[in-house]
This record gives sequence, structure tokens and C-alpha cells, in this order.
Amino acid sequence: MAQYDFGIVGLGVMGQNLALNVESKGFSVAGYDVDSGKARAAETKWAGKRMTTVPSLRALVDSLARPRKILIMVPAGKPVDSVLGELKGLLEPGDVVIDGGNSFFQDTDRRSQELAPLGILYVGMGVSGGEEGALHGPSLMPGGPPEAYQLLEPILTAIAAKTEDGPCCAYIGRGGAGHYVKMVHNGMEYGIMQLLAESYDIMKRLLGMSAAEMQPVFARWNEGPLNSYLVEITAAILSRTDPETGLPLVEVILDRAGQKGTGKWTSQNALDVGVAIPTLNAGLEARILSAFKDERMQAARLLTGPCKKFDQDRNQFLGALHDGLRLAIVTTYAQGFALMREASKEYGYGLDLAEIARTWKGGCIIRARVLDGIKAAFADNPELPNLLLNPRFAALANELHPALRSVVCAACEHGVPCLALADSLGYLDSYRSERLPANLVQAQRDYFGAHTYERLDKPRGQFFHTEWTA
Ligand code: 6PG
Repeated sequence: MAQYDFGIVGLGVMGQNLALNVESKGFSVAGYDVDSGKARAAETKWAGKRMTTVPSLRALVDSLARPRKILIMVPAGKPVDSVLGELKGLLEPGDVVIDGGNSFFQDTDRRSQELAPLGILYVGMGVSGGEEGALHGPSLMPGGPPEAYQLLEPILTAIAAKTEDGPCCAYIGRGGAGHYVKMVHNGMEYGIMQLLAESYDIMKRLLGMSAAEMQPVFARWNEGPLNSYLVEITAAILSRTDPETGLPLVEVILDRAGQKGTGKWTSQNALDVGVAIPTLNAGLEARILSAFKDERMQAARLLTGPCKKFDQDRNQFLGALHDGLRLAIVTTYAQGFALMREASKEYGYGLDLAEIARTWKGGCIIRARVLDGIKAAFADNPELPNLLLNPRFAALANELHPALRSVVCAACEHGVPCLALADSLGYLDSYRSERLPANLVQAQRDYFGAHTYERLDKPRGQFFHTEWTA
């Protein structure tokens, strides 16, 4: 019987494409899907290659060379547990199982613990880059037992995207570390997408620009320091015409954004870990607000805003928007990396932030030129508490904050919503404030709840209470 190098469970487009990618790097692949229709579709696509589909999980296990390496590409949640429940009884100690879906990192921790006593090496791997990435080179974030990564490394580094800095794949850390890092990647993805959406909205509502006028602006921005996959696809989207109406397709699309959960988990986890990520939260909350379309339509008829005409120089303002957006994106990365830093301590992941920035330079959705500088910042100082404390990024923030400020002011003055841009500026202004008004909050807490406070002129850890109403 043939002994295949690699097994894949779940032959949706992501699974099929990853399988093709693995085969193209010289490894034979056996695939299984509970849906025989999907298996047949894969079989057709895979014809003539060292690939096969099999009718059951048992047949998959029997077809693989030992130690077996099986990648699960099924929807996060129950489907993963159900595949693992069956696989558990079929595998042997030393076999490796990889979950390549967007699983919740604590589910991955739990599953690793359940499989460890059986000697099964469980890897939770973040995979970014969508269907195209899966086929031509994704960014991979594998976490779990280091010995499992050693077995997988030749395959994973072969299929990952490549940059001049090497393959976009690195061992992330134990347990759910890989899925944790992918979750934060997605939180930043939400934040950056919202910043771009707000920039588009400001161009449209403030400057009165059409999609056709905006397209070359985003395309030009993509040639400079804003160079990134998300800016690139924004320009491409703006150039597309709807065949049915002849209108720009983007203007025909219903303004209600969906979500599958990873961005929400990032916000929930940041609250648990105690790290402020306002731009990422704004990305999530803007999607939630957008979902209330009918209510917004009602409110639009009832609630008024300013009716001021835009009277600034358009080209100058576009320059400020470019610079403001650039800084807002930097603060988004600063927030995401600060979260990973704290989580690494909290969960004992030992994350290498420079290495994570390196593996995001290609393949993933938030790949961007700025990651070169981020990698360098954490390589210079692995203990850097926040990107904004790196001298180069501090200088950039000092240079660009007037632009971000002027964009947020203009948007507010004209009533154009800019949750993420404003939160990025608020983050910067809060972070650079030696004194925040939290003293008043502490006084209020002490007033109504005797929660006590510390004093500026006394050592930390000494607590005081005032009888406010005496
Ligand atoms: C990626 C993407 C991918 C997917 C997410 C986001 O890195 O390739 O993040 O994983 O698009 O599921 O989806 P939502 O926007 O639906 O949460």
C-alpha cells in the first residue's frame, strides 16, 4: 500500500489548496472529507499528481508513513473536536496532528492537554493568506510541542510564502501560542481594514471623490511607506465596476460587515490580559454598528450633523490623510504587539516578536512594508514594551501626529465617523501623557466606595482613604 507523506482532513478550498501546495513541494498527499462531494471535487483537481483521496479517517491513517502528519482544515469549534475524537483511537504515539483552522487558542490548549497523554503531538497552527495564500504561500504560525515542529519544519517552510528574510513560518511557542498569535493578527486585520474604510469614507463624504478618483490615490499610496496587501486590494476593489448597474461595485455592496469571531476574541482577551487595544476594538465595534443597518436608516432621518462645506486644499488634505493613516496603522501594530507581549508573559508562550514580525512580511493579510521596521525594533530590543518607545517609531509618531490630528478634526467637524482613526490618536495621546485624569477617577472611587488611592508624593503601594463627606 502507498505510504503518503502528508494527510489532510477537510477538503474545502483552503484544504484542497494547501494540499496542492504541499504536493508541489515534493511531498505526496492523502486527503479525506466527510462530504464525499468535496472529496470528488478534490480528486478531479488533483488528477495526475502524487495525491489521493480516501473514504474514511481510518483509511487516511493507514495510508500515511510514520510518524503520521495530519493537517485538519475544518471549521473551528465542534468539527475539530469531532475529528480529533475519531482520530484519537486510530493514531499512535509520535504521530502529529495539526489544526490549521482559526481555532480559539484556549480550545487548542485543552486539546493539546487531552492528546498529550496518548503521545500524540498536537500543533495549533495559524494560517493566513486566504485561498490564494494557501495555494501559493501562506504565512504559517505553528505552536505546540517543539519536537512536532522539528518533524514538520521541512514541509511547512517549503509551503510558506518567502521573502528576502526567509520563509514566512516560524515556531511560535507551546500549547495554543500559534492560534493566539493568529487571533491577534486578525484583531489587527480588523483595525487596519477599518482605518482604510474610514479613509475611503473621508475621501468620499468630505472630499466628494468617486471610486474612480480614489483608486489611483490608494494605488499610489501602495508604492510608498503604506505598501501593504490591504492597501493594494483596496485599490483593486475601487477599480471594479458592477456589470449589472455599471456603478463601482463597492458602491453597490450592502454596508453591513460580517465577522467570524477571531477579532472579537482578540478584544475579549485583551480585556482579560489588561492591555488597551482601542483601534482593534474600533474595528470590531464599527462592524457591529454597521450591522444595525435598519436602525441606522431610521436614525439618519431623525438625527442631524454639521452641514459644513469642505474648504481645504484637496491635495494637501490627501497628503495629511496619507500620513495620518500611516501613523494610525503604526499604532495598530503597537497595540497588537503590546498585547502579544503581555500575553506571552501571562501564558508563558515565550513569543519572539521580531520573528513574528518577520513571518508576517509575506503571505498573510496584514503583510506590509512597515513590518521591516517592526522586526528591527524588536530585534534591537526584545524587551521593548511598546513599538512607540522605539526611537525610529517615536520619531515617526512625532513627525506624523499633526497630520492624524488634522484628519480626525476635519472628520469630526464634518460629521464623518472615524472611530478607528480617532481611537488611534487617542491611544497615542494617552500613551504619551505623563499625567492622565485617572487621579480623578481614583478620587471618585474612593468617594463612593472607599477604594483608596495612592499619592504622587508617597511611595507606591501605600494606600490612602479620605472621608469625603465628613
Ligand atoms: C487570514 C484571514 C482569514 C479570514 C478570517 C477573518 O489571515 O487569512 O484573517 O483567517 O479572513 O476568518 O474573517 P472574519 O472577518 O469573518 O472574522
